[in-house]
Amino acid sequence: MILQVKNLVKQYKHHDGLINALDDISIDVKRGSFVTVTGPSGSGKSTLLLSLFGLIRPTSGTIFFNNRIITGATDLELANIRQEHVGFILQNFALIPYLTTVQNVMIPLALKKVDGDEQLERATEVLKFVGLANRINHLPRELSTGQQQRVAIARALVHNPSVILADEPTGNLDPALSLEILDFLSKINQTKGITVILVTHSPVAAEYGNYKIHLRDGRLAG
Ligand SMILES: Nc1ncnc2c1ncn2[C@@H]1O[C@H](COP(=O)(O)OP(=O)(O)OP(=O)(O)O)[C@@H](O)[C@H]1O
Ligand SMILES: [Mg+2]
Repeated sequence: MILQVKNLVKQYKHHDGLINALDDISIDVKRGSFVTVTGPSGSGKSTLLLSLFGLIRPTSGTIFFNNRIITGATDLELANIRQEHVGFILQNFALIPYLTTVQNVMIPLALKKVDGDEQLERATEVLKFVGLANRINHLPRELSTGQQQRVAIARALVHNPSVILADEPTGNLDPALSLEILDFLSKINQTKGITVILVTHSPVAAEYGNYKIHLRDGRLAG
């Protein structure tokens, strides 16, 4: 198992009262699997995804990554684990507007203090892989939506993570582009053995999963 989640609970304290966003979630994720997380709006999908590697601190429960307990790790330890092992693809892409394609993709390597020439080389290589070799010096606003999404994917991949976490990565895209991105995630999963955890509203996207998680009111639903 690459990830084991045991009895995960996340409560948000709100002045309107306590919200049980995650209510006793337990899941086992095998290395190399393609996990889809579906469920109605507000069912806890994003909270689950962001809790896995500590971007949100769970209220209780235990998370094992590579058989090591990571709940309880310090912020710095968690940041290091994310930098080393995890790629994030978020819905709004989160590209830095004043950096070019290749500079955006170099960010995870810069954080790891990889040598400058190597950063450029590896970012260029992964941009070739996503079909953007001829757009490396463009700014995000000079790219189409699908191209921006592929930059975000390239950035999530460049440091060779063992897990990719994607929250509605095709939410803003037309059906054809969505399929392109999904096929791409599937290719990464199959050829590189990267574990993918994909949050989605789309039934089509959910079909890509070989482990399908459905949430309702913060609980696993059948
Ligand atoms: N920071 C917060 N403070 C208080 N409540 C929150 C906070 N973040 C999320 N919630 C609540 O927790 C619940 C789960 O939210 P979450 O964002 O995980 O849902 P989701 O399944 O990702 O929904 P969507 O499909 O709309 O993105 C919701 O009821 C939401 O209102
Ligand atoms: Mg969400």
